[in-house]
Amino acid sequence: MLIRVSLFALLTVGFAGSAAADEPAKVSYYKDVRPIFQQHCNGCHQPAKPMGGFVMTSHADLFKAGERGKAGVVAGKPAASYLIAQVAVHENGKAEMPRGRDPLNVIQIKTLTDWITQGAIDDTPASAKAVAVDAANPPQYSAPPVITSLTYSPDGKTLAVAGYHEVLLYDAEKYALRARLIGISERVQSVAYSVDGKKLAAVGGAPGRFGEAQIWNPETEKLLVSAPVSFDTLYGVSWSPDGKAIGFGCADNTVRAIDSVSGKQILQMGTHSDWVLGTAFAQDGLHLVSVGRDMSMKLTEVATQRFVDNVTSITPGALKGGLMAVDRRPMKEKKMQQVPADTPGAKPNVYDELIIAGSDGKPHLYKMHREKKREIGDDSNKIRDYEPMPGRISAAAFNADGSKFAAVSSLDGKGEVRVYVTDTGAKVVCEKVTGPVYAVAWHPDGKLIASAGFDGTVWLHDPATGKLVNSFVVMPKATAKSGAQ
Ligand code: HEC
Repeated sequence: MLIRVSLFALLTVGFAGSAAADEPAKVSYYKDVRPIFQQHCNGCHQPAKPMGGFVMTSHADLFKAGERGKAGVVAGKPAASYLIAQVAVHENGKAEMPRGRDPLNVIQIKTLTDWITQGAIDDTPASAKAVAVDAANPPQYSAPPVITSLTYSPDGKTLAVAGYHEVLLYDAEKYALRARLIGISERVQSVAYSVDGKKLAAVGGAPGRFGEAQIWNPETEKLLVSAPVSFDTLYGVSWSPDGKAIGFGCADNTVRAIDSVSGKQILQMGTHSDWVLGTAFAQDGLHLVSVGRDMSMKLTEVATQRFVDNVTSITPGALKGGLMAVDRRPMKEKKMQQVPADTPGAKPNVYDELIIAGSDGKPHLYKMHREKKREIGDDSNKIRDYEPMPGRISAAAFNADGSKFAAVSSLDGKGEVRVYVTDTGAKVVCEKVTGPVYAVAWHPDGKLIASAGFDGTVWLHDPATGKLVNSFVVMPKATAKSGAQ
């Protein structure tokens, strides 16, 4: 007892020495307040989606009034700050904001209140001060961006390219910049159109700060959903065939899916042991496959979020190096015949095949679902391997009928684009590729493939001959708005 008392006394003295006992610790906007907004508010309060007319992505905007005409923050006066009134928890346990979500917790609300009481100061370090970027102030490029993803719209009229802080929509006839979809993520890692082409998903974030999944209406250029996910960038987005969900990989080793209308999470699966970089839904939408740096492809049942199977062999050395690329083969619908009795979860309806590839440079073709009973360490889902490419493969994509796929690689500052015939393994190497390649897409008519990577050049090749048909450099002009360049 004596010991306890003296320990307590020591602690109190130590504490009193550093700060007055009842004065709240100094709250940092940069370290404490901003992360709360990023996780809970900015999805609905950013320049591209200012709900209630209120923007929260920059310090200066917080002091402005939204549609109701009340300033979000009044420095020194939490009681007069509308933002505090909006997050306050009512007697029924609910709060106005964040809309439709759980209220902030007591500590978060205290952090915001204390910060305002202490003067609502912006302590963002000069080195971290980003220039505000929105439709009126588009991102400035001093050099072409590293291109990590590109994709054609299903009608073949648009090529969407992941840029810096934005998705760039190019007219796929003239390859002229038509629109800039500017969100809050600094990095856009992966873009994908829904099957009907009415929506465009983009995932990315800010490294070490937040991940974000965006869903745009590419026609109206409106941001429909901005969902904060985890604390690091997201990768490898794919659409469910019915357009109701998107799946993606996270740097926290999870694979996740969200509802494409509400933005709410519907799936989280955590059996990967390293970053998850690619995803693909089954044709019947019942399952989602994911690949990652842990050298595995895993199968998850969408409805139950349950891990079903390692599609690739888990025997050490079966796959050399992490996986970065996955694409489901478009095929005529073929019913699954045999599903082993020990397969957990929903029985798959449709037979599916996938191409996967990664650091070992070798594309592999796999069946999605097991047709034979599992034996430890077997690799019975593998159909075939293809001749390896130089370096690591970052992306692979099937043509519209699944008869061919394109894959792209990088090694020591060089890159390669190849087209393989899926069933025979015959290959065509594309000419005049000037740098490492990270992204590839087929024009829906099958007569053109677009690829791009480190040096910001988009190459357009004839997949039958490998001839370079055209190329252009992604470099939006300093003052460019929609329609310019
Ligand atoms: C899912 C979307 C969503 C999220 C997340 C969200 N809000 Fe809102 N917010 C809205 C909508 C919609 C309005 C418009 C007013 C209304 O309908 O009540 C609004 C209005 C506001 C307003 C009033 C603006 C005005 O003058 O009308 C404030 C302040 C606000 N939100 C703060 C926050 C804060 C703080 C958070 C995070 C803790 C947050 N919101 C998260 C959707 C959201």
